Amino acid sequence: MLVFSQKSKLTTYLASQTSEHKTIGFVPTMGALHSGHISLIKNALKNNNITVVSIFVNPTQFNNSDDLKKYPRTLEKDIEKIKKISDKVIVFAPSVEDIYDKSVKSVSFDFDGIENQMEGKHRPGHFDGVGTIVKKLFEIVKPNNAYFGEKDFQQLQIIKKMVAKENLIVNIIGCEILRESNGLAMSSRNERLSKETREKSAIIFKFLKRTKVLFQNKSAQEISKIAAKTFKNTNNFELEYFEICDEEKLLPCLRKNKLKKYRAFIAVYADGVRLIDNISISE
Ligand code: PAF
Repeated sequence: MLVFSQKSKLTTYLASQTSEHKTIGFVPTMGALHSGHISLIKNALKNNNITVVSIFVNPTQFNNSDDLKKYPRTLEKDIEKIKKISDKVIVFAPSVEDIYDKSVKSVSFDFDGIENQMEGKHRPGHFDGVGTIVKKLFEIVKPNNAYFGEKDFQQLQIIKKMVAKENLIVNIIGCEILRESNGLAMSSRNERLSKETREKSAIIFKFLKRTKVLFQNKSAQEISKIAAKTFKNTNNFELEYFEICDEEKLLPCLRKNKLKKYRAFIAVYADGVRLIDNISISE
């Protein structure tokens, strides 16, 4: 299996392999691969001639240096996991210097306000960092199709917006959330949970499923109050936000509109580990 750590070598190799008829599928990741990533990779393999997976913990999207330091880095294991599905996948695992040269900074984007909601509110600068790295990676890999998980639904919408605004020629494909057997959304951060907290974190998806039922006859504001109460009464869990927003602009639902599709979004600290999840609550 080919593993590149330098962008110049990867671009030269890809240029030698691609032709008009070959498509490149791309799965950008920060490593610590789990079944959610594996399913994105399988999707890319099935629908493209060439599949590239990047493994890069992007410093500019972390607004908390401790979170960046603690982010799991498991390159060797990740490569083994990819090899098990196919040795045809091309891995790109660059260094920070190779990607950013001397200036480890993000570009400032205008995502029409989507960036100011939820994750953007609680992680200032996060989406500028995401936009910066994804654009850089797209320029290097030049994918036809790029795959992103819906667990980071706001990120998915941001990337679609960036592609539209910057006229980038790439299809953005959102893939459904994969869950552990107790319903917890798969995430690299789950590795940092104790066995007990990982089990107890089932409460997050359980509450999201309850939201779907509650939304049939309660307002978003009423459900937010129930969320605050539920997590206040659950030891070791701290609710950062719970919001019901429309899927397109990600604006909070102040009054239900039948023409809009809604999702419930949640961010919770479980024993200090930040977990996010979401669910579609429109029929
Ligand atoms: O979702 C992620 O893992 C990251 O935000 C991404 C898209 C790989 C950019 O660093």
